[in-house]
Amino acid sequence: MFSGRSGAIIATIAVIGWFAAGLYYFVLAPESVRNSQMPIAQTEATAAIGGPFSLVDQDGKRVTDQTYAGKFLLIYFGYTYCPDVCPSSLYAMTETLDILGEKAARVQPILITVDPERDTPEILKQYVTNFHPSLVGLTGSPVEVTAAAKAYRVYFAKAAGDDGDPNNYLMDHSAFIFLMAPDGAYITHFSPTATPAEMAERLAGLL
Ligand code: NI
Repeated sequence: MFSGRSGAIIATIAVIGWFAAGLYYFVLAPESVRNSQMPIAQTEATAAIGGPFSLVDQDGKRVTDQTYAGKFLLIYFGYTYCPDVCPSSLYAMTETLDILGEKAARVQPILITVDPERDTPEILKQYVTNFHPSLVGLTGSPVEVTAAAKAYRVYFAKAAGDDGDPNNYLMDHSAFIFLMAPDGAYITHFSPTATPAEMAERLAGLL
């Protein structure tokens, strides 16, 4: 396609870009970012993402995947004490729905906590008010939360706090936003760097 000198320059730039991206992910990126890239990138068995779950919403009501059948789902696994990635991802989800306007009624945004020890329904109820009015926050027993995370191939692990207080800890976790079809089938997932405009464009093509 390209020939001669300009082709060589383009190839060189491509290699430098590729190398820089690799350097970022494997050397410079914080562990949580690397972890968030791993589960899906390593398996590629994306067709198997998703499945049944049974959890409790922010009103203390038992819900399952069937509760939201018929809607597109935007599912994010995170936790309310997260200082950075979770709030920015949930804010991006909110903006995405705002861009979609009335079409957003066909989309159910869901936060599933990976920190059920601290994220009670009461805590989640307060937290979701910071984002889109339709956002639901789901928690459950550690076994239920682990099962849901496993179905979505989401990695999470408790990270030690730095002040010795056992209640003051962070969670390492995958930070993908999953887009599921109204029948529960996996459509795609967005990385933490996806913009609301990009996500809204993808969704608008389906709604
Ligand atoms: Ni987080």
